[in-house]
Amino acid sequence: MPEAAMIFKTLATLLFIDVSTSRVTRAIKAQYSLLLDRVGGIFGHITRFQGDVYLLLEIVMSDLRALELAYESFCAENLSLDMTRGKPSSSQLDLSDEMLNLPGKGKFKDADGVDCRNYGGVEGLSAMRGIFAEVMDVAAADVLVGGNSSLQLMYDTICRHLLFASPGASSPWGVGKVKFLCPVPGYDRHFSICEIFGIEMIPVPMNGEGPQMEVVERLVAEDAAIKGIWCVPKYSNPSGVTYTDDVVRALAIMKCAAPDFRIFWDNAYAVHMLDGAPASLLSIKSACEAAGNSERWIQFSSTSKITLAGGGVSALAASQANLKFLLKSINMQTIGPDKVNQLRHIQFFGDYSGVLAHMKKHAEILKPKFQIVDCVLNRELAGSELACWSKPEGGYFISLDTKPGMARAVVKLASDAGVKLTPAGATFPYGKDPQDSNIRIAPSMPVAKDLEKATEVLACCIKLAAARVRE
Ligand SMILES: Cc1ncc(COP(=O)(O)O)c(C=O)c1O
Repeated sequence: MPEAAMIFKTLATLLFIDVSTSRVTRAIKAQYSLLLDRVGGIFGHITRFQGDVYLLLEIVMSDLRALELAYESFCAENLSLDMTRGKPSSSQLDLSDEMLNLPGKGKFKDADGVDCRNYGGVEGLSAMRGIFAEVMDVAAADVLVGGNSSLQLMYDTICRHLLFASPGASSPWGVGKVKFLCPVPGYDRHFSICEIFGIEMIPVPMNGEGPQMEVVERLVAEDAAIKGIWCVPKYSNPSGVTYTDDVVRALAIMKCAAPDFRIFWDNAYAVHMLDGAPASLLSIKSACEAAGNSERWIQFSSTSKITLAGGGVSALAASQANLKFLLKSINMQTIGPDKVNQLRHIQFFGDYSGVLAHMKKHAEILKPKFQIVDCVLNRELAGSELACWSKPEGGYFISLDTKPGMARAVVKLASDAGVKLTPAGATFPYGKDPQDSNIRIAPSMPVAKDLEKATEVLACCIKLAAARVRE
């Protein structure tokens, strides 16, 4: 047997390794270069055969060993990358920098002549209500402008229903057992609100059109303790799904055992398209009115991911009866919202078309990031059946499903390699994903280079977790 072939055989047997990607090949080269040098020293001619050695290693190395090596090489890079929360990046925040100079000294009045520095105007400035009316596809009179967080409006709205009898109800929710339907995967902070109030959460699977309506319809018809459902109807968190018109109509018309059933329509991503114009979504208000259930909906939105995540403006929209109910306690809570911030936003946008123009700038930053994640996942995992993932047209997330039973292991592996992911299970009530398969990816924060690396690590962890189960 010629010398080189003998070395090949010996190395292959010794190492029992199979390398399937160039990254792994690099890891092997790093790890075995010493050994190869020594072998080269012994046999003198080895250098010209080294390429062939690597080739052979690629053929015979076992998947698991190769993946362990690739994973180790990522770990050795001491990474510190974060794909946990859907926060705007600083370059997105920069888009609103001009707002920091608004409204400007002496410019404290709105078009109606309201002195925004003073108390009052609980419902919000009329121009701000007008802009949110278009964002949420309702009338300006339906809108109540809040502080900097729509989540706070949601929390407070739940609280108000627990404490006070709302339109259609003879008593507050809080006098009895309260349950909520939670389309899954869903937004973890919705679930946290339920959890803190002891509201029992019932998961309902999402499909490509919205929540599975046969399940929703059956549950709400038979149980009067079910008082509401969480919906993120456009570019859903995390699946990216936009509810179809049929689903919106079905939610509006379904028979509910609870007369005070409410749809919490969290339209956080109403204008957050990655391309072109925002996806169309049937108006929940019109659908409920057409179905004779005018009080069923309460809609939420904010500019957190339009202007400044910590310094935006939130809004709620509801029927006149619901607004009256909510305002009764809101008027006890505050003498008025931050109208200076509203004024700043009005001046910055001008009108709704200004919002859309601004969102196009966000899309220019965000779209390439979504593409990077999709591209790396495709390169590393397409055809492997180890994972599938969403390809959203807007919003802030990519939802990835591993094979059942692996998400926790993948998130742990990634974390140990310096890549933080949203905890597995977070997209399910009580943090329990019965399949242990869903992972929410938030591509907005990292810069492109880091995002690519983080996604490579994620893909490696998915392959490694699967290979460990197989062995
Ligand atoms: C679906 C959804 N609703 C609400 C929020 C938070 O909104 P806000 O900043 O207005 O409180 C988020 C943030 O990630 C979200 O994904």
